[in-house]
Amino acid sequence: MSFTLVVPKEERAGETRVALSPEIAAKYVALGMFVIVESGAGVKSGFADADYAEAGAKTSKTISEAVKKADAVLGVGAPSARRVKAMKKGGVLVAQLAPHQDAAGVKSYAAQKIAALAVDLMPRITRAQSMDVLSSQSNLAGYKAVLDATSEYGRALPMMMTAAGTIPAARVFVFGAGVAGLQAIATAKRLGAIVSATDVRAAAGEQVESLGADFVMVEADDDGETAGGYAKETSEDYRRRQAELVGAHIANQDIVICTALIPGRPAPELVTRAMVESMKAGSVIVDLAVEQGGNCKLSKRGKVVTHRGVKIVGHENVPGRLAGNASALYARNLHNLIAAFWDGDKKTLALDWDDEIIAGIGLTRDGAVVHPDLKEARKRAPAKRKTPRKKGG
Ligand code: NAI
Repeated sequence: MSFTLVVPKEERAGETRVALSPEIAAKYVALGMFVIVESGAGVKSGFADADYAEAGAKTSKTISEAVKKADAVLGVGAPSARRVKAMKKGGVLVAQLAPHQDAAGVKSYAAQKIAALAVDLMPRITRAQSMDVLSSQSNLAGYKAVLDATSEYGRALPMMMTAAGTIPAARVFVFGAGVAGLQAIATAKRLGAIVSATDVRAAAGEQVESLGADFVMVEADDDGETAGGYAKETSEDYRRRQAELVGAHIANQDIVICTALIPGRPAPELVTRAMVESMKAGSVIVDLAVEQGGNCKLSKRGKVVTHRGVKIVGHENVPGRLAGNASALYARNLHNLIAAFWDGDKKTLALDWDDEIIAGIGLTRDGAVVHPDLKEARKRAPAKRKTPRKKGG
């Protein structure tokens, strides 16, 4: 029996992406896999059933049957509890499983004895760069955040000298110069804005300046980052000094793009109500951190709100607003991972649990939670729900 790889439609409302593109379906088929895609799974990303069929995959309307015999199931987000229960013992699940926010999900993967790989935990090492879904998706989000800002902003970004007078260039300020922030800076620069940015990581300064933007940063005793290159949580004193520095700067900005995150923690609150109120009417704030609690005090998940003339944009799933590109890159990331552990002779996936990549993303194996960061999650997992008794039963 050949190795069966199954890609269902995403279950989360508002998810426009899909974990497989026709281009990548052809690559899995070339490896010797039997590929089944749920009918219509790619529609919102611009991939038709016929495109998958042409690539050698089978499209199916009865995906729950396919999931039962799948050796691997690919997803963008975590599957529902019902779908997990349908998976066969020993099957591999590959998706962004957000295990730190979903202890019950992690427990269910162990109970089902599947190998769950959370690609959102991909280690930031050179070998894993082509598998790094956070980077591929954040890059698109940073670009789209600027476009969303410009479409809400009632003015132009570049300076224009016309016979009727001069239009000044817009000022854009970016919080957080990671993957999304750097792409936001580059995009705003291309559109002709005057761009500045801040970050707690001193190393980000050089990258910001190499894109032609000004770096605004609070003086600190250390470099602001963990050994893994992520931001450290800041001290109260740092936060106070950052608020003073940024507070004065923000009052002169037309567009603010918020991208600041700390892995596994709520997003830092950086734009206060007073800062919003200091901005001119007609200014725009885009809060890309809204799903992690938001960098702006007034942003609302999934909404565009206006506070004293300042528009605050809180779109969810921003990479999904560019679904065609986001799905194509996500599918390539997953393929790079799977192909790296594919045993071409035995035509099967041979996960090496001692490998740094699998050790970094592997959550469960043979019925046990194996990820070192999830011991706490395992303890906190809610007890199995009892089936409610039927009335009168
Ligand atoms: P992220 O999405 O976790 O955070 C976004 C940015 O917000 C970061 O630059 C962070 O320093 C900043 N931030 C956090 N708290 C802040 C605060 N209070 N004020 C201002 N800024 C704040 O970060 P992302 O984009 O995932 O990148 C994290 C690091 O990983 C970076 O150093 C990046 O260059 C590196 N990286 C390495 C890769 C590799 O080697 N394979 C691939 C992608 C990223």
